Amino acid sequence: MDAAPANLAIAAAESFGTSLRDDVLAGLGAPRRTLPAKWFYDEQGSELFEAICDTPEYYVTRTELAILRANLDAMAAALPGGAVLIEPGSGAGTKTRLLIDACRPSAYVAIDISRSMLETGAAGTARLFPWLQVLAIHADYTRLDALPDDRLPSAAPRVLYFPGSTIGNFTPEETRAFLARAARWIGPQGSVLIGVDTRKEARVLEAAYDDSRGVTARFNLNLLARLNAELGCAFDLSRFRHRALYDPVAGRVEMHLESLVDQQVEVAGVLHDFSRGETIHTENSYKYTPDAFRALAASSGYDCRSTWMDAQGAFAIYLLAPRPGIGGASTGGSR
Ligand code: TRP
Repeated sequence: MDAAPANLAIAAAESFGTSLRDDVLAGLGAPRRTLPAKWFYDEQGSELFEAICDTPEYYVTRTELAILRANLDAMAAALPGGAVLIEPGSGAGTKTRLLIDACRPSAYVAIDISRSMLETGAAGTARLFPWLQVLAIHADYTRLDALPDDRLPSAAPRVLYFPGSTIGNFTPEETRAFLARAARWIGPQGSVLIGVDTRKEARVLEAAYDDSRGVTARFNLNLLARLNAELGCAFDLSRFRHRALYDPVAGRVEMHLESLVDQQVEVAGVLHDFSRGETIHTENSYKYTPDAFRALAASSGYDCRSTWMDAQGAFAIYLLAPRPGIGGASTGGSR
């Protein structure tokens, strides 16, 4: 292992709110079974997710990178220089490095639930940009109320970067709650740069979440492997299969794990019956037309300053600014 770069600080683990065990007992005990998506990202899951991003069917990462590359100058001009760049769910940080290079922030705050991803990603970024102050926070960002302000430049404007259409993994109500919390992190002078997938044909969307090489299937099934390893569950992975279905009314792709047979599985000491065809709902990925997303942002207290898209309209990056005098944005500056 290389020594940690001098410009990297790692903040102690924050509260994760709920434990894997509590979430699993509650989610599998419900009449319609669910498991929270945040538990996908153990070391194996984080690696599989990086592999999903490289599959031919998953256009999301490629398209967002292309939009970013084509519009970096305009984005850099629209964002304040010397900012504190905050990235919840930072992962490997490939897109972020492009943005850092173009926008020259003074500090970068990476927040991730996967410790291994966080440390490799943040250390790599710190090494690439020795002039940048990097703070890595190991946390569930949906539970993080405040940033460690004392460890960040106090006068710098704040920019929240939220790529990858991760926002689509929240319901519209959760999205509003997340954007309201983000307004408190960034304060009234802050901005949000956010990548959001658009609505398109079911065929394209379902292929993106069920690639032909089976990487997404392995990613979804890895959740059961994690429950076996960490909670001593007895899931037989060959008796479940990955499903991805687009619901055009809700505008979301649903990921499920479907039981292939009638079976009983011991989960943390409790026997659960799964009938053939029954599913565990593991993830949603909401898709928004640009008008629908800007309306959702407006109802969360933000104005949309810019929209950047590819020529096909397959993906969009929005620049949002908190509307003066709305909710948390007006009172958010504890800085
Ligand atoms: N934010 C990503 C998306 O919705 C996450 C993701 C991609 C994902 N593929 C997945 C989540 C498959 C669960 C299963 O596009």
